[in-house]
Amino acid sequence: MTDEELIGLARSAAAKAYAPYSRFLVGCAIESVDGVVVTGANMENACYRLGLCAEQSALTAAQHAFGLDKVARIAVAGGNGEMVCTPCGGCRQAILEAAQLSGRDLEILCAGGEGPAIERHAISSLIPHGFGPANLG
Ligand code: THU
Repeated sequence: MTDEELIGLARSAAAKAYAPYSRFLVGCAIESVDGVVVTGANMENACYRLGLCAEQSALTAAQHAFGLDKVARIAVAGGNGEMVCTPCGGCRQAILEAAQLSGRDLEILCAGGEGPAIERHAISSLIPHGFGPANLG
């Protein structure tokens, strides 16, 4: 699957987000080492702090579909316009969990709600010196 196709799946997922409070729709598509793709979107709540990000929603689906240790590539897309959406701090930590379990420095493709711009970031650069399962031994 091309980068653009994975971003396209993340954008389709964003269209199904439940984000009535921020109106900031985000989708995430996660590809396994075997080419299986799962998606997720942000889901907000009237109790604002209980909102769930797209990445964590998709990581939950990934764990159920093939296991976090099989995550190969992650695409995040959304927002209002062309500014690319990068994972929040909490989601970086959640992605680090999958990266350390898989033993791979996972690549994250980041795009906006529209437009051709794609940023590529390794999780090691988004959360350097992170604390993960490897620290727990
Ligand atoms: N959001 C995500 O789903 N992923 C991110 O990486 C950034 C932010 C969501 C959380 C909230 O529902 C909305 O975007 C605005 O912050």
